[in-house]
Amino acid sequence: MLPLNTIHRLDCIEAMQALGEGSVDLAFADPPFNIGFEYDVYRDKKDPKAYLDWSRQWISGVHRVLKPNGTFWLAIGDDYAAELKVLSQEIGFHCRSWVIWYYTFGVNCKFKFSRSHTHIFHFVKDSKQFTFNREAVLVPSARQLVYADKRAAAGRLPDDTWILRPQDLTDGFNPDDDTWYFPRVAGTFKEREGFHGCQMPEQLLGRIIKVSSNPGELVLDPFSGSSTTVAVAKKLGREFVAFDISEEYIARGLSRLEGITPGDPLDGAAEPKYSAPSTPDVPIKRERRIAIAKSPTTSDSSEKQPQKPKKSKKKPVTQSATLLFEDAVE
Ligand SMILES: C[S@@+](CC[C@H](N)C(=O)[O-])C[C@H]1O[C@@H](n2cnc3c(N)ncnc32)[C@H](O)[C@@H]1O
Repeated sequence: MLPLNTIHRLDCIEAMQALGEGSVDLAFADPPFNIGFEYDVYRDKKDPKAYLDWSRQWISGVHRVLKPNGTFWLAIGDDYAAELKVLSQEIGFHCRSWVIWYYTFGVNCKFKFSRSHTHIFHFVKDSKQFTFNREAVLVPSARQLVYADKRAAAGRLPDDTWILRPQDLTDGFNPDDDTWYFPRVAGTFKEREGFHGCQMPEQLLGRIIKVSSNPGELVLDPFSGSSTTVAVAKKLGREFVAFDISEEYIARGLSRLEGITPGDPLDGAAEPKYSAPSTPDVPIKRERRIAIAKSPTTSDSSEKQPQKPKKSKKKPVTQSATLLFEDAVE
């Protein structure tokens, strides 16, 4: 058995063989998407068949090390989402939810719609027995907060509507929907570690770890990257183990871990819809734009006490207002 509560510089397929069968409570994996992303060591452009063969191997490894009531969350891009869902089911996983993580600050595209989402599959090994700590991830709905409407507590079906700025849609992106909104960890954000282009937001991992594991249980990340999963696991009092093949990412990840004490608050806002400013009625000046663009950087104090938004009479979003963040793309 490998030492726990650290990140190992190992290929995850080999490393998982050194973990005991049925020893892990929760695995979160954000593998390379095979889209040619530039990592320092890994080459993210395999032949499609080789990528799928490799995916089958590591997902089988995850299945082996999970406890019978264990949970597997898989983040994946459009290109292989369908294939990896089918493949995971063939290996034996049951899909509970196909979550869409909708993010702002995506990379701007000129001749296609800018990508602003990642698929996150919630798989379980046993369709009847698994951890699902509903109470640990409950938050007041927008209807409750804004309209004090108690009937809204049951939630609502997600929309298939195109939305430009989620904070202007008080009824949309409720945390109990399966379309989630968290800003991507963009270049200007304080929580950005700066050494890894795929750093995930701590709040996203926080929701996954809180709902699918209990304090003291073991969380595995086969593809550690900037070490977000293990950083959040440590903050939330879980045991953890992670792998990566990059010496640089491991060294930086370990130093990120060293700066963390269990119980530390998660970075970012738990309810980004209310921490982000809503669109003003008239376009605002550049100095104020910069201040607003930096506003999601504050460390999260809203996790324990969500801030009630001030009531405002909103006018329809104007075209000039929707372009406010165009210069913030990477
Ligand atoms: C998408 S990134 C993970 C990002 C991470 N979720 C975060 O928040 O920073 C994928 C990582 O997998 C690592 N990797 C690629 N092949 C691997 C392998 N065979 N075993 C372990 N890690 C690997 C890459 O070096 C890269 O850091």
